[in-house]
Amino acid sequence: MTGKAILFGEHAVVYGVPAIAIPIDRHLSVEVIGSGHGPELAADCWKVAVRLDVEQPDARALQQAFGLALDLTPRCPHRIIARVDSEIPRSAGLGSSAALSVALVRALAGYAGESLAPDEELSRAAEIEKIFHANPSGIDHSVVAIGRPIVFRKQGGAEAGVDLGRIFKLVIATAGSHGGTAARVQALARRRQSMAELYQNAFAAIGQVVERALLALKKGDAAEVGALMDFNQGLLNALGVSSPELERGLGVAREAGALGAKLSGAGGGGAFLALCDDDPQPVLRALRGAGFEPFVTTLAPDGQGKALIEEIGQAARR
Ligand code: MEV
Repeated sequence: MTGKAILFGEHAVVYGVPAIAIPIDRHLSVEVIGSGHGPELAADCWKVAVRLDVEQPDARALQQAFGLALDLTPRCPHRIIARVDSEIPRSAGLGSSAALSVALVRALAGYAGESLAPDEELSRAAEIEKIFHANPSGIDHSVVAIGRPIVFRKQGGAEAGVDLGRIFKLVIATAGSHGGTAARVQALARRRQSMAELYQNAFAAIGQVVERALLALKKGDAAEVGALMDFNQGLLNALGVSSPELERGLGVAREAGALGAKLSGAGGGGAFLALCDDDPQPVLRALRGAGFEPFVTTLAPDGQGKALIEEIGQAARR
C-alpha cells in the first residue's frame, strides 16, 4: 500500500473542484496475526502500540481507528495483533492515515476470510479516515486504494485514470509537520467566510489549472506541467496554506532546475513536490544540501488506471 501526494487541486477539491492525486514510492503494510490476547495494534515504526481496553490519551485517534476497523469487520476474531510497518512520514500530507485506513480494512477482512468489493473497501476506509480528518474529501484513501494516478471529484469520487504521455519524475520532500489536515481545512473555511468571492474565484482558477494539467500530462509536456505546478502554488499561497519552510524548499528545488514545484496536501508545512526533467539528481542534491530528506517518485504510463476505476464504478453500481 503506497502513500499519496496531491499533484494538483488540494483544498479546492473540498469545495467541489476536481483534483489529481498520485501514489508515491513510500509504503505501509498491516499484517494481522493470531495472539493469546488482544486485540492490539502494534506500530513499532511510530513507537506506539494500542489496545482497546485501556485509556491511551496520546494515541486516541489510533485507538478509535482500530476499534472502528474491527467494528466494521464483525467476523474478525479479537485475539489478534495487527502489525503496522510504515515508511510514510506521519502528519506530512503523504497519506499515512489513508494508507493505514485502507490497509487495516484489507488486512482485517483478509484475516476474517471476507472478500471485499472495491466500493465496500473504500466506504469502510472512508469511515476510518473521518477519525483522522473530520471532513475529508475522500481523495486520499481513494488514490491509496486504487494505487494509480486519479482524477477525483468530491461528489463523484475517483472519476478517471490519468493519461501520461511520458514518464514524469517528481522529487518529494517534507517541510516539517502540517499540524493536522482537519485544522488546515477548517482554518481555510474560516478565512473563506470573510472573502467568499475571492476564494470562489481562486478555486475556479485551480479547477482550470487541473483541466490544463490533465492535457499537459497526456501530451507528455513536462514544461507545461511544471509551469502549472508553479501557478497552482501561487493560488495555494493566495489561500494562505503555504509556510516559510515550504517556500524555502520550493525555492531550492526551482533554483536547482526543477520545472515547477508546489506544496502537496494540507499545507502549512508537510510535503512538497518538484517536477524534474529526466535527471532528478541536481534537485535531490540541492534539497539534501539544504537539510531536506527528498526521495523520487516516478509516474509511468501504464494504461491500467482507467480499467481499475471502471471496475470500481461497476462494483459501486451493483
Ligand atoms: C489532503 O491531502 C487534501 C485536502 O484537500 C483535504 C481533503 O481533500 O480532504 C487538503
